[in-house]
This record gives sequence, structure tokens and C-alpha cells, in this order.
Amino acid sequence: MNTVSVAELKIGVLGAGSMGTGIVQIAAMHKHQTFLVDLNEEALNKASSNLKNIVAKLVEKSKIDQTTANTILNRITFSKNIQVLSECDIVIEAIVENIDIKRKVFSQLEGLVKETCILASNTSSLSIASIASACKNSERVIGIHFFNPAPLMPLVEIIPAIQTSENTVTLSKSCIDSWGKISVLTKDTPGFIVNRVARPFYGEALKIYEEGVADFATIDWAMTQIGGFKMGPFTLMDYIGNDINYTVTETVFSSFYFDPRFKPSFTQKRHAEAGWLGRKTGRGYYNYADGVIQPQPNKDEKLGNEICNRILVLLINEAIDALFLNIASKEDIDLAMTKGVNYPKGLLAWADELGLENVLSKLEQLFSEYGDDRYRPSALLRRMVKNKKTFYS
Ligand code: NAI
Repeated sequence: MNTVSVAELKIGVLGAGSMGTGIVQIAAMHKHQTFLVDLNEEALNKASSNLKNIVAKLVEKSKIDQTTANTILNRITFSKNIQVLSECDIVIEAIVENIDIKRKVFSQLEGLVKETCILASNTSSLSIASIASACKNSERVIGIHFFNPAPLMPLVEIIPAIQTSENTVTLSKSCIDSWGKISVLTKDTPGFIVNRVARPFYGEALKIYEEGVADFATIDWAMTQIGGFKMGPFTLMDYIGNDINYTVTETVFSSFYFDPRFKPSFTQKRHAEAGWLGRKTGRGYYNYADGVIQPQPNKDEKLGNEICNRILVLLINEAIDALFLNIASKEDIDLAMTKGVNYPKGLLAWADELGLENVLSKLEQLFSEYGDDRYRPSALLRRMVKNKKTFYS
């Protein structure tokens, strides 16, 4: 067990992409001596200039003074040499999302860091148990999953593998909490909390579109204006990128042994194949070229309520099933969705508000209409309705 206090921990980050750079910024701003390593010189230079710009902007906005800005930047060592991580207390890996490469890197890291050093992965989709098994001491390995952009998004999912020790969990959590983040504890299962529970937000919206019930603009309007979500599913997928969002869905689907609840959509696949990735390519579900007039929604309240209710009950069902399978506590499931993806309410609290019997009855109606396992209500929901229980009151 480490004996140093949290503030004195030396933090290493491997991978100077968007996530690694964001994590380094947080650590350096929280007074840690920080090391950023990448094999690619260009990535390091880009990270360094991005960090300088961010800190300069904070000075410009009078959030920090110039001396503090210099101190923050001086705390960061940029290097191509992984050996600089040898003195670190926690190393967070944020390299390419590939299990074989991550396993190789973890085994290499273990050979050079201190015995007490925690080795964490920022993976969004890979098994922490599999990464940990590449290390002789797999007890020191954990998942610490930030959301993009890391400095701005408050949520961090902490994922112990079945091999991870209590000490590793406690120290990781204390460190993340000391950075002002909201940490939630989740089981090492596909998609953790957020990327599992959020799937119907995209998948059911795409299915509604494919059935010809409504167009992109109308579905987005329903979810924002009636549902109160900050962004509609198609606007959000265009932000995330259809390539990335499709890959996450496909990974979750295959990791759940092809459970139809997570089935990917041909519409999204074709958009990705066409290179209509979203904002980053200027075209996705919407066309972002200058001067293009955006399609107008059909503001039919009845249709909007139907769309919103259908997506919402599937989201709630996913949250309830995650609770049923002990993926996380009810509080953490609700926090994850409000702080990780800005949902207007926690889904379990929302379920209470709608009435669990109403959620069940809508799911049963969909299940019987489609005859598709995608709509099967969670056993916990059935049980709670039968016993007249609620989540919070
Ligand atoms: P990125 O592609 O922007 O950056 C990865 C960096 O790692 C590159 O600079 C590359 O040169 C470097 N790299 C690759 N192999 C390396 C090695 N063996 N040693 C040292 N450096 C190496 O990737 P991004 O988007 O920053 O993601 C990194 C990780 O974080 C992935 O595991 C991803 O799944 C996860 N993640 C990504 C999120 C996102 O929205 N981009 C959100 C949450 C997690």
C-alpha cells in the first residue's frame, strides 16, 4: 500500500491523444508531478501545445494567474521514453483501443514501475480482467474511465477487475475524488454503466426512423423538447461520430453474446460506410455545409410523446437490468447517466416518477407487438411492480 498522501502521488499517463492530454491537464492542475509518454513525437508536441493554449486561455479569463500557469506546465514532463514512468504511483494508460497492444504495454509497464504503483486503463470497452492478467501482480490493475473531454466531464467510472485488490480501488477512488470528479463504481462488464445503459438512446431512435415513424429532426425534437435531453439522438451521434458510435454498439452487442437489445442499425452502418460520420466530416444525419437549411421537425405532440416514451422506457429498462445484475448501485447508475451523458434525470428516479407499472405496461405492449426479445422487461421491474415497490421512496 502507498504511504504518500494523495496530493503527492506522481501520475503517469501513457498515450498523448485527446484523452491522455485531458487527464494530464487534470492531474497537473491538481498539483501532481505528471509524466506524459507517447511513442509518437508529433502527438507529444501537439499535446504540449494544446496544454499551453488551454492554460493561456485560463489566464486570459483570469481563472488563474501567470505564475500558476507556469507552475502547472512545469509539473508536466513530456517524453517518448516509457522509463520516465518508473517513479510514478499511478499510471493511467490511454493508448489505442486494442487488447493485444494494451496487454503488452501493461506487462512492459509492470517491469519498470514500483511494486506499489497502480496500473489503470482508460479503456471504454475492453475487459479489465483480460488487461490485468497480462501482469504478474494483477491486483494492482484497475479501470479508470474518463469521459470526453476529460477536464470538463465530471464523471469517472472506476472498474475493479475480479483480480483487483481493495487497496487499489480505495487509492484510485481517493485520487479521482480529490480531482473534483464524481466517481462511480462499476462491474467489469461490457460498456460499464454509461455505454451499456445509453444504448437505446441511439438504437431505438434509429429503429423508430427505420420503421418510418418519424424523421431525424422530429425524433431529435421529441427527445429535447418533450424529453428534456440536451441533445437529440441524431444530433448527438453526429457529434460523437457515426464510426465511433457504431463501433461501440457493435462491441457491446457482440460482448453481450448478441442480445437483440443491443442490435446495431444498418442505417448507422451505411452512414459510417458512406463517410457521413457527422460534424467532423461535414455531413452525418444532418448536412453541416454552410448555408444548408436544416429540416424542420413535425411538432405533433402525440407523435412526440410516443417517440419519447418508447425510447425512455427502453433506457429505464436497461438501467433497471444493470441494477438487477449488480453492475452498480442505484445511486451510481443514476449519477452515471446525469453526470456522464447529461441526462436530465437519473433513469431510476425517472422510473419512479413515471410509475413503474406504466413503464412495465409500455414495455409489455412493445414486447407483445414486436415479439422481439429487445423489448423484454427486466425481471427486477416485474418483481418491483408485483411487490408495489419504488426505487427511492
Ligand atoms: P487517440 O488515438 O487520440 O490517442 C492515442 C495515443 O496513444 C496516440 O497519440 C498514439 O500515438 C499513442 N500510442 C499508441 N500506442 C502507444 C504505445 N504503445 N505507447 C505509447 N503511446 C501509444 O486515442 P483517445 O481517443 O485519446 O483514446 C485513448 C483511450 O481512451 C482508448 O482506450 C479509448 O478507448 C479510451 N477512451 C476514449 C474516449 C474518447 O471519446 N475518445 C472516451 C473514453 C475513453
